[in-house]
Amino acid sequence: MQAQIVLLPGDGIGPEIVEQAVRVLRAVGEKFGHTFAFDAQLLGGASIDACGVPLTDEALAACNAADAVLMGAVGGPKWDGVEPARRPEKGLLALRKGMGVFANLRPCTIHRQLAGACPLRPDILSEPIDILMLRELTGDIYFGKRSRSADRAYATDEMAYSREEVSRLARIGFENAMKRRKRLCSVDKANVLECSRLWRETVQEMAKEYPEVDVTYMYVDNAAMQLILHPAQFDVMITGNLFGDILSDESAAIAGSLGMMPSASLGAGTRGLYEPIHGSAPDIAGKDLANPLGTILSAAMLLRHSLGLEAEAAAIENAVEKVLDAGYRTADIWSEGCTKIGCAQMGEQVAMQI
Ligand code: IPM
Ligand code: MG
Repeated sequence: MQAQIVLLPGDGIGPEIVEQAVRVLRAVGEKFGHTFAFDAQLLGGASIDACGVPLTDEALAACNAADAVLMGAVGGPKWDGVEPARRPEKGLLALRKGMGVFANLRPCTIHRQLAGACPLRPDILSEPIDILMLRELTGDIYFGKRSRSADRAYATDEMAYSREEVSRLARIGFENAMKRRKRLCSVDKANVLECSRLWRETVQEMAKEYPEVDVTYMYVDNAAMQLILHPAQFDVMITGNLFGDILSDESAAIAGSLGMMPSASLGAGTRGLYEPIHGSAPDIAGKDLANPLGTILSAAMLLRHSLGLEAEAAAIENAVEKVLDAGYRTADIWSEGCTKIGCAQMGEQVAMQI
């Protein structure tokens, strides 16, 4: 097949990790006979520097014309002083909104080779952990009205959800649960927040259509605790934008390293935005120290969800397992007895396995 993929390397370690994911995608293309055309666009601080805004209309249009978009990371201390409306992160939020990718899939599994990096006690890990965290991505307090009083001593951020926004996310949650272990946990703060009461009502209503799915409702504070105490109880978790942001970092820590975690953001069609869940790590940028596996695994999700290439996606995932089996580690996941390698070598190893 032929596919058009927009690359948004962004800032910090973004360019180096995206480069390795591209190397792996090229290897997949060669092996399976596909042609991937890559078109690099600016996002975040890189776009602010070149164009004055964190996302240009042209870059967004290119993303919306492509089959899929692969992003690195945005932000860094260089742009900390930039006014809020033009911060690098604002570019990412505008991109998610502009592409209409409301469902953010953040799978959390522990690679058995990295079990030592998991901060939980071994007995907590005795059952397999395989969680699909599904985070609503284009609503909530992320996109509500904000204000600051003239004396700057008072601020507000509005949390808002519509039934429609909740229900389209919940639908994806139930459909995924049906394909998995048929358990769904809806996370909210319905004992306090009106948005959460709407969230819970909407999920309860939809649950009637999925009698086979075992649905539980959990307050977010309890969910944060349960993730640590008994992570194996979870299959699919659905939650709002802010709670999902927080819980997905927590689940990444359980998996051993933020550097390993891929994500897919999907909308109504097959076009999607794929990015590792970590940040731009400015302290190690340009030093060939970053872990490209989160981005490489995001590329696997791209092949699966946007291009329908399941075997190719699995080829990347298997290649990553083999490289970990062979003992290769970037600094963030390195432990005694393993071979420490850099970002470029990690990409090369995965590409070679393919
Ligand atoms: C994430 C990040 C972003 C978010 C930031 C960079 C705006 O933390 O993708 O989890 O909060 O969504
Ligand atoms: Mg986050």
